[in-house]
Amino acid sequence: MHHISEPNILYFGTPVVLISTVNEDGSYNLAPISSAFWLGWRCIIGIATTSKTAQNLQRTGQCVLNLPSVNEVQAVNRLALKTGMNPVPVAKQGRGYYYEPDKFGVSGFTPVPSQKVSAPRAMECPVQMEAHVAEIHPIGQDNELQRGRIITLELKIVQVYLEESIIMKDDPNRVDPDRWRPLIMSFQQFYGLGEQVHTSDLASIPEHQYKSPDMDIARNVGRVTEGSNDKNHIPRVIARHEAIST
Ligand SMILES: Cc1cc2nc3c(=O)[nH]c(=O)nc-3n(C[C@H](O)[C@H](O)[C@H](O)COP(=O)(O)O)c2cc1C
Repeated sequence: MHHISEPNILYFGTPVVLISTVNEDGSYNLAPISSAFWLGWRCIIGIATTSKTAQNLQRTGQCVLNLPSVNEVQAVNRLALKTGMNPVPVAKQGRGYYYEPDKFGVSGFTPVPSQKVSAPRAMECPVQMEAHVAEIHPIGQDNELQRGRIITLELKIVQVYLEESIIMKDDPNRVDPDRWRPLIMSFQQFYGLGEQVHTSDLASIPEHQYKSPDMDIARNVGRVTEGSNDKNHIPRVIARHEAIST
């Protein structure tokens, strides 16, 4: 029997993504999110406009999407309730957040240089994806209480790094799903994936048939620094949104 219900959160389980970005002073920020999914070589994320990450993404147009495995859960948890925003936005103050300027340091993740973006990769994460912001969409514009609070960003992947332990033995361009153990957030709690539960008819489609046209373009993308004149790199804001003040 089903019950009509009003859950306050609808986080039914998505992978944790650690987004590294560059602050105005050149220091690094690292923040966990879990509102993320992938379409081809694009990633769609949902993030609060009051976060330092959202501000850095809008200013620099670049980031790294680092995917922790279940093995990195303690370091990920050390990032919870911290923000790179100073002062801490009022809504976050009420939830127990505090300002932390060195999130790599406190979490224990090690920043290592990227090739195509200025933001660093988090070395311990088995998957790291350098990305450019393609477009920004506001969410909840039809409700004045939500307007300006959340945006989705379409991120274009420009380079992917895979740790060798999760790569298919016979193909360096495939992740072995039996060995990739993503960290999942479900209703604010951390989980891993269980074993495969059934054979998959969808998997009869060879992975090469999913090849995205973005992959050829990504191969030729060079490093773009903030403030350069590359107009293609400036994110396109699809609809106007007003960032709410802290
Ligand atoms: C596991 C986990 C998942 C989270 N998912 C999201 C999310 O999808 N979107 C979001 O805006 N914040 C999410 N948060 C909260 C952000 O991490 C939080 O707003 C943080 O202060 C952002 O850091 P920043 O202000 O330095 O960018 C999540 C936090 C944790 C611990």
